[in-house]
Amino acid sequence: MQYQISSSSAADIQASCIVVTLDQSGKLSEAAAAIDSASGGFLQARIDARDISGKTAETLLLPAVSGIKAQRVLLVGSGKDAVKAAAAQKILTAIAAATSKLDGEIALALTGLASDELPESWWAEQTAMAFGNALYKFTETKGKKDDEEAPRAPESLIWLGGDVAAALAKGDAVANGVNFAKELGNMPPNICTPSYLAGQAQALASDAALDVTVLDEAELEKMGAGAFVSVAKGSSEPGKMIVMKYMGAGEGQPAHMILGKGITFDTGGISLKPGQKMDEMKYDMCGAASVFGTMKTLLQLKPAINVIGMVTSAENMPAGNASKPGDVVTSLSGKTIEILNTDAEGRLVLCDALTYGIDNFKPASVVDIATLTGACMAALGEVNSGLFTQDEALAEQLQSAAKYSCDKVWRLPLEEDYQDLLDSNFADMANIGGPLAGATTAACFLSRFTEGTPWAHLDIAGTAWVGGAKKGATGRPVPLLVNYLLAK
Ligand code: BES
Ligand code: MN
Ligand code: ZN
Repeated sequence: MQYQISSSSAADIQASCIVVTLDQSGKLSEAAAAIDSASGGFLQARIDARDISGKTAETLLLPAVSGIKAQRVLLVGSGKDAVKAAAAQKILTAIAAATSKLDGEIALALTGLASDELPESWWAEQTAMAFGNALYKFTETKGKKDDEEAPRAPESLIWLGGDVAAALAKGDAVANGVNFAKELGNMPPNICTPSYLAGQAQALASDAALDVTVLDEAELEKMGAGAFVSVAKGSSEPGKMIVMKYMGAGEGQPAHMILGKGITFDTGGISLKPGQKMDEMKYDMCGAASVFGTMKTLLQLKPAINVIGMVTSAENMPAGNASKPGDVVTSLSGKTIEILNTDAEGRLVLCDALTYGIDNFKPASVVDIATLTGACMAALGEVNSGLFTQDEALAEQLQSAAKYSCDKVWRLPLEEDYQDLLDSNFADMANIGGPLAGATTAACFLSRFTEGTPWAHLDIAGTAWVGGAKKGATGRPVPLLVNYLLAK
């Protein structure tokens, strides 16, 4: 799909469809009014006939409107005058749903919806993202791969308005990153193994701007990454730690690290999970997927920043040689951990990756992203990712990126007072903190491996995928991570 910007009027633009809006009082936008007068009142007649009222995200597709150059008009309700972000996303999703399967050019006259809070560039960026979202479909493991399965795409989007080329390019790159993250998340766990993820990193490294290193399980064992190995060893799929370096600002400049949990399937291990919905534990690598998606976006945009994308990947299986509750292991940091529950495996693969990443790359900041706890999902549902940090500057940066990108986070506590819940009689700490404050005790555990480095943790257990009939990965929090990193 191409992106163009045009200063033509809505009535004069040559396109397969021109998209214009009306508000819920039935008032046409300036662009819609121009079409209405060019067509001798065709739009107003539809409103008078109550075909559309202007409620948020209501759509009416009108073919063959005489007097205008576009072949169709899509009328879209914009609701109340000052459109807020949540309504804006509904509007753009409805526009993309109604037009993304049309051939030709989709022209969009949406500048009338821009405000101080949501400027034209924001609308342009979100529009590109909404089309990217609408055009994604998982087909990789479907038997028939004919054209019916693959969605059609318009040839181009034409933005009627000001110079928002950079915003459109950014939105397109973020959409590609989001869709890459979705694709990895949706891939079945017999295909998407730690080795498969390592292969995906190698493939990204065909771009010379990315440098990739993969550490295998044997090396990690030799290094002393006992927490990581305690999870990986129960599976016949070898665990991998993946490092992707993008040095757009050049060596010598500070690098920011993002680290994703890549459990390609989480059975719970010997502390086996119940069978219901266990298939969804293929999504336990969505933190890793968000790191891949973010790196993909950065490679498209080539910004002048340094980013180290790390992925810590293993399969959590019950086996004769799997870890048992009561085992004590020594992490790469030297701290010992009593594994009281083998289902709290994410923090075990993450803690050694934090130690490795911080020691080797001395990053200026670290953000880890993990489908870490059912407790976070219970607290925040599918709306907000959980944000944990004691670094106020990082909190502010992540919250503002979340707000701008509509990839929301909610800050949850990470205070010293909770640390005692991890006390163990037999090791430096236990890997679980009991039934209370489960999302916070998981974050407390990770905090012990990040001392001295600005660090934040995102728990995406509730936001990385949706269940039910539309089951699938969401690609979150790629938009948040990209916006956070671009502001560095
Ligand atoms: N991957 C799960 C967390 C999870 C559960 C994400 C459900 C999404 C939906 C994680 O490895 C896990 O099993 N966590 C346990 C921790 C507990 C044993 C302290 C949990 O949340 O139940
Ligand atoms: Mn688990
Ligand atoms: Zn897990």
